Amino acid sequence: MFEVGQIRGGYGPINILNGISFRIDDGDAVAVLGPNGAGKSTLMAALTGTLPRCSGTLFMGARDLSRSPSHELVSAGIALVPEGRQVFAPFTVRDNLRLGAIKLSARGRLSERFEYVFGLFPRLAERASQVAGTMSGGEQQMLAIGRALMSKPSLLLLDEPFLGLAPAIVEEIIVSLTRLKADGLTMILVEQKLDIASRCAARAFVMQKGRFVYEGSFSELISRDDLREMYFGSAKAGEVPSI
Ligand SMILES: Nc1ncnc2c1ncn2[C@@H]1O[C@H](COP(=O)(O)OP(=O)(O)OP(=O)(O)O)[C@@H](O)[C@H]1O
Ligand SMILES: [Mg+2]
Repeated sequence: MFEVGQIRGGYGPINILNGISFRIDDGDAVAVLGPNGAGKSTLMAALTGTLPRCSGTLFMGARDLSRSPSHELVSAGIALVPEGRQVFAPFTVRDNLRLGAIKLSARGRLSERFEYVFGLFPRLAERASQVAGTMSGGEQQMLAIGRALMSKPSLLLLDEPFLGLAPAIVEEIIVSLTRLKADGLTMILVEQKLDIASRCAARAFVMQKGRFVYEGSFSELISRDDLREMYFGSAKAGEVPSI
């Protein structure tokens, strides 16, 4: 179980996050939706210990991680696939993955993690010696996800991993996330598109101005005219596939 309480904070004196609380059961996947600037990436920073100023509580099971620095959060099993991929462009695929395993020592063997990531994304195995910066956007996204998985996380945070990708690659990555879910990983996916979010997650959080203004099922969300039109354009009731 992953539970946060009353998360507040920001980059300077002004709060970007204004009291966020939620709970996710082990193995569940939730999506965080909301307009540009709502604070979605700032929330990811807060959950990974990289927001300059942050208060509130953060628990993984009974373990209190509220004051833990980012390296301890990684060791505790939280990994982030950051917005914009941020792979290390001059390094090879293999070296990018190895960097993701820096905090692995206590939880698993490096060779097992390589095997797992290469099994999930065979294309990364084929391109293990390729320099990351020369890979396509879709391949770089696979690498960013693979790098996060190298630390053997139990909670994976993904910040808009589908942005700018062609539909075929989006499908491929959705299949990979489905497999990760089947393997028991807990996931928080930041995603602006309702249809994609609802295929990857069972529950939705909608964020506005640093607060959650909705928490619940996708079917209920799509029936809420106020939220649907304000944040997600023209998606109509019934367009969201059932989960
Ligand atoms: N490093 C930073 N320093 C100062 N302010 C920041 C920083 N990063 C983000 N902000 C501000 O925090 C607010 C929330 O930004 P954030 O990136 O969390 O939004 P978001 O919901 O992820 O948006 P998007 O959908 O565009 O990715 C914005 O007003 C933004 O200008
Ligand atoms: Mg963002």
